[in-house]
Amino acid sequence: MMWTSHPVNKITGTLRAPGDKSCSHRALILGGLATGTSEISGLLEGEDVLNTGRVMAALGADVERVGTGAWRVTGVGSAGLHSPSVDLDFGNSGTGSRLMLGVVAGYPIEARFIGDASLSGRPMGRVLDPLEQMGATYKASKGKTLPLTLTGKADLAGISYQPPHASAQVKSCLLLAGLNANGVTEVGEKRITRDHSERMLRGFGAEVSSRREGAGNVVSIRGGQTLIAQETIVPGDPSSGAFLAAAAMISDQGGVVIEGLMSNETRDGFYRAASLMGAHVGAEDVGDAAGERLIDMSFESADLKGTEIPVDLVPSMIDEFPILAVLAAHASGVTVVKGAEELRVKESDRIKAVVNMLRVNGVEVEETQDGFIVQGCAGAIPGGGLVETHHDHRIAMSALVMGTASQKPISIDDASMIATSYPDFMAHMAELGADLRSA
Ligand code: S3P
Repeated sequence: MMWTSHPVNKITGTLRAPGDKSCSHRALILGGLATGTSEISGLLEGEDVLNTGRVMAALGADVERVGTGAWRVTGVGSAGLHSPSVDLDFGNSGTGSRLMLGVVAGYPIEARFIGDASLSGRPMGRVLDPLEQMGATYKASKGKTLPLTLTGKADLAGISYQPPHASAQVKSCLLLAGLNANGVTEVGEKRITRDHSERMLRGFGAEVSSRREGAGNVVSIRGGQTLIAQETIVPGDPSSGAFLAAAAMISDQGGVVIEGLMSNETRDGFYRAASLMGAHVGAEDVGDAAGERLIDMSFESADLKGTEIPVDLVPSMIDEFPILAVLAAHASGVTVVKGAEELRVKESDRIKAVVNMLRVNGVEVEETQDGFIVQGCAGAIPGGGLVETHHDHRIAMSALVMGTASQKPISIDDASMIATSYPDFMAHMAELGADLRSA
């Protein structure tokens, strides 16, 4: 269904951030593997995460919803996972599928992994290749994509591996496989990527070591360790918060407070980039959750200036480029994004999708092989376009945010995918004063 965002003068209010998607997947996975019953609160109940919960249940964990965002997971512990009687359906989720390929690889079971059209086009070779080196076998669709059947092994061999891409999904997949492998599994990352797997594995009682080497970390885990059930409070998602923050920054009268966001330097690149562009970002410490620091953040209207986004910020804002592009369109001057070729294999080809989103709304933008260059409109985004979302939730949300501060309304062809990561997005935007209407 088509949705349209009509321009408004004001974006104001205080909201609690939805649970972090990365931590929510990991809470269900680690809880499902552990010995005992884990209590999870603040879980993001987006489609991607719910699919991971269903998959853990199909593999033998007991996964129960006990209230809004409150889940109880009894793990398989030493009994281990069993072969599922159904296909494991990950819907739209790269994270769910890649992390679970690592989990299944460490057990003597066979499982068929499936997903939607977007996920079935995404590369799985980046995890299948190292898992094969560890001893797992698979039959995949052309180009090492889903649907695929993976056969795991009780005695995987630990490896030392350097993924060619800076990817937290690949690192996490291998750490989860390594948890059940012989010896030590070591992953050397090119650049530091989100570290929730390391933190949460430690929280569930595993020893994970990490040392800095060059621009990345070398992370290692010894096989045969047992996870112990935990109480997990999922921190607020800085990637979802970025949409609300941007709406405040580009509004004539913006003033938004987001409570309970996770503060983690592997995730805060968008906020640092926005600050470089001239935004005022306030942060106040309010405690801890799941081994992460929590902050309340505040945002207001900003006189944004285009800038070259430092390449070393890219991994810590890898999901935020569609919304960064909206800031760039609103700013005065030129914004340059480079070193972000991974965007080509996200839920859509996000370089093409972002360029199209801006162009159909009258913004001058150039596509490059590893990024894009935006000529800012100095507060006067023409708008009036219909954006093709390519089933990509972050393109859909970015376009709707852009419509709040453009001269003419902005429409999107489909909003259904927003539920994969931020089911309350429409309600939250309306609470802040956005005028979003379905056709
Ligand atoms: C994620 C890692 C990132 C990110 C994704 C979530 C994770 O993917 O884009 O939304 O939870 O590990 P890559 O590892 O492919 O960069």
